[in-house]
Amino acid sequence: MRGARVVAAEFDEIAPGYDESRGGTERAAGFAGMLAPLLDPARPVLDIGVGTGIVAAELAGLGHTVHGLDLSPGMLARARARLGARVAVADACRLPVRSGSVDQAVSTWLLHAGPDNRAVLAEVARILRPGGRYLVIPAGGTRPTDDIGVLVGELEDRLDPDGSRRDGPEWLAPIAAAHGLVYEGTASERPTSFAVSPRAMAESLTRGLFTGAWAVGGEAMRLVDETRSRLLALPDPEVPRVRKSADVVLTFTRRP
Ligand SMILES: C[S@@+](CC[C@H](N)C(=O)[O-])C[C@H]1O[C@@H](n2cnc3c(N)ncnc32)[C@H](O)[C@@H]1O
Repeated sequence: MRGARVVAAEFDEIAPGYDESRGGTERAAGFAGMLAPLLDPARPVLDIGVGTGIVAAELAGLGHTVHGLDLSPGMLARARARLGARVAVADACRLPVRSGSVDQAVSTWLLHAGPDNRAVLAEVARILRPGGRYLVIPAGGTRPTDDIGVLVGELEDRLDPDGSRRDGPEWLAPIAAAHGLVYEGTASERPTSFAVSPRAMAESLTRGLFTGAWAVGGEAMRLVDETRSRLLALPDPEVPRVRKSADVVLTFTRRP
């Protein structure tokens, strides 16, 4: 697993182009709209892995008071511009938050991005009050099953053999249960689709924009190179495939 300093440096580097390369305010507004009905507007929300604050700002626009924590000062500088002093640098695996003091927390696209999912869920279980809620929008969503999706899914599995960055409910529910967090199921499912060609996907792997494939040493780069070759060997590599997926909210509740 990559250390916190490496992860922070990677996000510092991509911070300037992050919002635009990840669907901009359209994605953020969509995510906020999925989360808002599951949150109590009368109580503050802690956004763990708040990033540039683009989702948190949309939630704030819907009337929620959002506080944000993130490892990357570069991402957080943008969040500060959006949310003011309610943001701070912190590691999700060692939250600077009192036990049992948080009513509701959210993480969007955090658990695949570097921290050990086991450590994060243990911390979330510690800081939530009994009955408190943790809402997760996983980056994995529903894996596309087109020919690109199959190859990329295999790459993700090979890059993360112990599952520490897997963020689907089949991985998170048992880990959560071990820490006293009950997985309640999914909510707010929102189908998405996007078009990408095998060549464009191969290029995004090279540039490291594809989040599962950030450089983590020689072996990972060998696996990325192999997947890139396999993508380029697919039929009609220039032709975009319409890839269907679904964003979803996973809900966890702290056992009383
Ligand atoms: C893919 S971005 C998502 C940001 C934001 N939630 C969004 O949806 O736009 C992942 C974020 O997680 C942060 N992150 C990664 N590891 C972390 C950790 N251990 N503790 C806190 N934040 C972390 C990164 O710095 C980055 O800002």
